[in-house]
Amino acid sequence: MPWLLPRGIAPLHEKALDRFIGALVEKLSDPSVDRNALVREELARLLYGRPYEELLELNPLAAMGLDPEGITFEAEYYAATDQEKFQKVKPLLWFWKVLDLTPIGQSVHSGVAIRRALAPFIFKRVGKNPKFFQNVEFSVGYNLELGDDVVVHRYVLLDDIGGIKIGDRTSLSDYVNVYSHTHHVLASPDVTLKETIIGSGVRITYHATILAGVRIGDDAMVGTGAIVTKDVPPHAIALGIPARPVRYKVRHDCPYCRKGEPHPSDLIPRAPDRKGNPDFPDFLPPGFGTREA
Ligand SMILES: CC(C)(COP(=O)(O)OP(=O)(O)OC[C@H]1O[C@@H](n2cnc3c(N)ncnc32)[C@H](O)[C@@H]1OP(=O)(O)O)[C@@H](O)C(=O)NCCC(=O)NCCS
Repeated sequence: MPWLLPRGIAPLHEKALDRFIGALVEKLSDPSVDRNALVREELARLLYGRPYEELLELNPLAAMGLDPEGITFEAEYYAATDQEKFQKVKPLLWFWKVLDLTPIGQSVHSGVAIRRALAPFIFKRVGKNPKFFQNVEFSVGYNLELGDDVVVHRYVLLDDIGGIKIGDRTSLSDYVNVYSHTHHVLASPDVTLKETIIGSGVRITYHATILAGVRIGDDAMVGTGAIVTKDVPPHAIALGIPARPVRYKVRHDCPYCRKGEPHPSDLIPRAPDRKGNPDFPDFLPPGFGTREA
């Protein structure tokens, strides 16, 4: 018996969903489309069943909340955000977030399908068949790269401001956090951006946290609740705080092993760390620092 069962919805609803997604993708594929106007219109019809202009007259505050130009994201306040790139994806990130509050966003069938349609217009790279469940959060969206068949479960946080790469067939379980920025312990405005790389066939299990700049090798597994502060080798099972490899998977038919070849994650050059706030001074005044407890 397969682990997952096929589940459909009523043909009438399936048809309406297909039509909605088809029209959405067509509009988004037109480079001249005003994404802010498109999103506020779609949301007004989805949430209130009426055109945006009509809603604006009836209830200006409700209308404001649907218009990407009427709201701000945390990323808009950061010096590290590339504002030009962010403004392009902001309307679609808002659409994604508001969709999560709606019945069709919460339904797995329609929610996954609509998010799959939006993903290529938001992320830096998306392979085939991405599967996002509800209430996933992103920092900027434009710095996320996904391979094929990536699965992201409920309430995952992908802080991609410094760049996150995720390989093929990797899954992130509920409440996983992946970071790509860090703050100086004495001076919080001193932000460093570090690219975080998660290989192929990796399972990051529920409530684990991956700190900025870490690399997780192919076929590795991160145990539930772990905090990963250092690189995890391929095939390792890493547990605890801080996470340490405690076992290695032994596979005779590993789809990720390339015998006699260097490991793929060793072939990706490590991106240099970047300063999130270029105006912040490099050196702290004498007398400041940390010592052992
Ligand atoms: C990695 C994992 C599978 C280990 O499970 P396991 O092989 O059954 O481990 P065991 O129960 O044999 O435990 C071995 C030891 O590690 C400890 N341990 C198990 N999981 C641990 C974890 N996540 N963190 C710290 N220690 C852990 C056990 O307490 C035990 O310690 P002991 O030897 O002192 O008694 C499990 O921790 C895990 O993360 N499961 C996640 C489930 C999952 O797949 N989620 C995704 C679904 S979407």
